[in-house]
Amino acid sequence: MLSLLSDSLSIIILLLLAPLTSAQPGYGQVSKYCAPGTASAPKGICYLQYYISATAPTFRIAIPSDASTNTAFDTILQIVSPASLGWVGFAWGGGMTLNPLTVAWPNGNTGQVTVSSRWSTGRTLPTTYSGATYKTLSQSRNSTHWTVEVVCTGCSKWNGGSVNTQGYGQFAWALSRTAVPQPGSAGSSFSIHNNVGMISESLDSGKNARDVFTGWVNKKP
Ligand code: HEM
Ligand SMILES: *[C@@H]1O[C@H](CO)[C@@H](O)[C@H](O)[C@H]1NC(C)=O
Repeated sequence: MLSLLSDSLSIIILLLLAPLTSAQPGYGQVSKYCAPGTASAPKGICYLQYYISATAPTFRIAIPSDASTNTAFDTILQIVSPASLGWVGFAWGGGMTLNPLTVAWPNGNTGQVTVSSRWSTGRTLPTTYSGATYKTLSQSRNSTHWTVEVVCTGCSKWNGGSVNTQGYGQFAWALSRTAVPQPGSAGSSFSIHNNVGMISESLDSGKNARDVFTGWVNKKP
């Protein structure tokens, strides 16, 4: 009787929790994603892929396998975003404040994606951050998605922290369904996110031999 009671109790608790957990894309699915080689980068590259949901962005991160914690090295970030999102953010140190933020948004219907380097000391509109610079490897837009892939110089180490290449790396993400007011400008303002989440993952599946990584960084569009 007692166990029957506690069984039904846990079912009730589960039923109560279900709508809460499904309403929020909290935890993503982690996998290793490899892109095939191209004419100018025949070896391709592999990423740590973080898939959240069909209505949220997917993030793919790649680093050189010889990179070590607390050093400066280039990182690759690919964002695949549903067309409905106004901006998408990725935080290299696991929270909104005091770490490099990569913020991206579609530039109207051009097929171009604006990438903005940001930093925030508080939970307000982040300011532009000159400690990280970006090179866009590819960008595209179709009726369902916009996507961008960048190389970041300055996202692996910053004043007060760094990307952990050995244990679990701490990252975070944010998304907004509101379009930015000046989409062609990396200095545009934008409004607060509709959703945020944390990522705590090993970067192992996103590690690539140095020549593979460099080949991808230098690949032609
Ligand atoms: C206009 C721009 C923004 C405003 C006004 C804003 C404001 C805020 C506020 C008020 C919170 C606390 C929310 C809560 O506790 O419910 C928060 C949390 C958060 N924000 Fe933002 N935010 C902005 C942009 C961004 C961007 C670009 C990112 C990039 C990744 C970001 C990532 C996060 C994350 C990960 C959290 C939760 C973890 C934490 O508090 O550090 N935010 N934000
Ligand atoms: C649109 O772009 C996304 C992201 O690159 C891709 O997965 C999808 O297959 C594309 N859809 C079409 C119809 O080309």
